[in-house]
Amino acid sequence: MIFYRPRRNRKSQAIRDLVQENVLVSTDLIAPYFVKEGVRLQEKIEKFPNVYRFSIDLLVEEARELKTLGIPAMALFPVIAPSLKCETGKEALNPNGLIQQTISTVKGEVPDICLISDIALDPYTTAGHDGIVSDKGEILNDESVNQLVKMALTHAKAGIDIIAPSDMMDGRVKMIRQALDQSGYSHVGILSYAAKYASNFYGPFRDALGSVPSFGDKKGYQINPANRREALRELYLDEMEGADILMVKPALPYLDVIYAAKELSNLPIAAYQVSGEYSMIKGAAQNGWIDGEKVMMETLLSIKRAGADMIFTYAAKEVAETLMTL
Ligand code: PBG
Repeated sequence: MIFYRPRRNRKSQAIRDLVQENVLVSTDLIAPYFVKEGVRLQEKIEKFPNVYRFSIDLLVEEARELKTLGIPAMALFPVIAPSLKCETGKEALNPNGLIQQTISTVKGEVPDICLISDIALDPYTTAGHDGIVSDKGEILNDESVNQLVKMALTHAKAGIDIIAPSDMMDGRVKMIRQALDQSGYSHVGILSYAAKYASNFYGPFRDALGSVPSFGDKKGYQINPANRREALRELYLDEMEGADILMVKPALPYLDVIYAAKELSNLPIAAYQVSGEYSMIKGAAQNGWIDGEKVMMETLLSIKRAGADMIFTYAAKEVAETLMTL
């Protein structure tokens, strides 16, 4: 046999470019944002480097910037005032609530940005859980789904493009799809957090929202990190229930699940580089331990290589800026 020399294909930048299998482009990115009541507010989050809570007016400017950078979509998370939180999270249904106002304002000012809104009760409940809690401290499935369906309809009415249920209650994609279709919102898409793990990487996000669970954990509804086949069942179910896009979350510790999701389904696959993954890179970079920009690029490209068609990342803007200079 001839001596095959793989290094020939790595000989020059030109050849390396020709044989490159995967690329990261700004149109792969979705930028998550935290919105808070206020005027011209841009508030630092203590344990979340370079991420802020914005008021709606500044969020409109952010949406315009994303468009200029070639980032197609923005994912919205509301920071709800503690005085508006209650046991059942009914502020989630307020047609003029913070998130509903955000959707209609941003969509009104920057119509061609794609807006994705989170459907779960944790920003709204005093317990910080994604569903309604019973007297016994259980998370009630069907009662929660009823509420989530109503919540989704208020977002649809406000003009949302894509609804993203992140609550992990059983059957919610089907119920939301049916309700949207019956109410004249068949054009609204569903990006399902289908394979969402009970991860320890959500810390900075919960800090941003003030939604650390007041008791227990989320293991009764989110997936055990030890399991891959269980995630495949969730992905399959959400496709059958009518999801348009399936998500795996977190991303980097679950590349095998992203790969398996891509093999399993012909729907587009999204991955969420969550707050803890992002902050680890930022923290190490701030200490001078790693080159933050390069590590960020490498991890995002790895997530694409595993099979993600799109990536939620708090680094979206800076990454798009870097991509423009390449
Ligand atoms: C809430 C939700 C969470 C995230 C997105 N939606 C947190 C949780 O499930 O506790 C995490 C995102 C991140 O950490 O960046 N349903």
